[in-house]
Amino acid sequence: LQTLPPLALAEKYFQIFPEERDPLWQNPCHDKRHKDIWSKEKTCDRLPKFLVIGPQKTGTTALHSFLTLHPAITCSFSSPVTFEEIQFFNGPNYHKGIDWYMDFFPFPSNASTDFMFEKSANYFDTEVVPKRVAALLPRAKVIAVLINPADRAYSWYQHQRAHQDPSAINFTFHQVVTAKPSSSKELLVLQNRSLKPGEYATHLERWLLHFQSKQLHIVDGSVLRSNPAPVMDGIQRFLGVTPTFNYTQALTYDDSKGFWCQRMEGSRPKCLGKSKGRKYPEMAAETRAFLADYYREHNMELQRLLNRLGLTLPSWLREELQSSS
Ligand code: A3P
Repeated sequence: LQTLPPLALAEKYFQIFPEERDPLWQNPCHDKRHKDIWSKEKTCDRLPKFLVIGPQKTGTTALHSFLTLHPAITCSFSSPVTFEEIQFFNGPNYHKGIDWYMDFFPFPSNASTDFMFEKSANYFDTEVVPKRVAALLPRAKVIAVLINPADRAYSWYQHQRAHQDPSAINFTFHQVVTAKPSSSKELLVLQNRSLKPGEYATHLERWLLHFQSKQLHIVDGSVLRSNPAPVMDGIQRFLGVTPTFNYTQALTYDDSKGFWCQRMEGSRPKCLGKSKGRKYPEMAAETRAFLADYYREHNMELQRLLNRLGLTLPSWLREELQSSS
């Protein structure tokens, strides 16, 4: 029997088991052997009970802000690096480990009644995420917000333009979505990022490989936008959070913003900033028709998936399927 110094031994180990180079963090408190060596100073309670997974541009910030009004719901601290979102499970932050992740959450005053959550909108469509979330938070509940994927793609394109992304400035939305495989790499990257997250069924199926359907809640983003109180009631029931918070009272429609905002006693409602609910021209009819065609099969797939799970179809999906039949 041979052995080696620790570093050399580790190198040897990863030569033999290369698939283990990428860690998969689990909850130390779920395994007695891990718990026994987990520092007594630490807790496993600084982890979220649920996640808002996105996708981007579907109303996730509005949902986040409405959720935090609830007295029993606490969001993660914001990250200065990634524009408020933690983005732990989807990128290089994952390799910073679970202590890094836990530092984004307060010590709950009561771990069974406090509902901590985080929202990172790229989780929805990033391939590795469901597996990683399931390893660390197997009992977590997961909320996805879906709007018409054509509108999502357009909103995302406008978001890129507002952030001065040179390729989004250089190309029209129509050029982006209709780009051919022979187009420039720059254009294809933009096209991919605008279209792929909207292939909802593909992404949801990946989440369902790792989570039971009862752990997943799908929010109709168009109703969240037009009439959020009943949507928030549905979320409260899904989470099983108490006491029931009265969103009809807490939210008010603001005419000048054109969106629902937080009602403030004696002053103007508190709305999301300018970057949420942007003003831009309507999508060209020709581009909408192209996207209706592009997403037809994906939307039908989503309809089959939701029917299989016994879930109601979002209003925008019913409309989209009707207009294409
Ligand atoms: P637009 O700015 O394109 O209109 P996300 O927060 O996931 O990035 O989504 C942003 C979108 O949320 C906005 O896209 C807007 O349409 C939508 N939204 C829904 N409800 C909203 C609200 N109450 N206030 C502001 N934006 C809201």
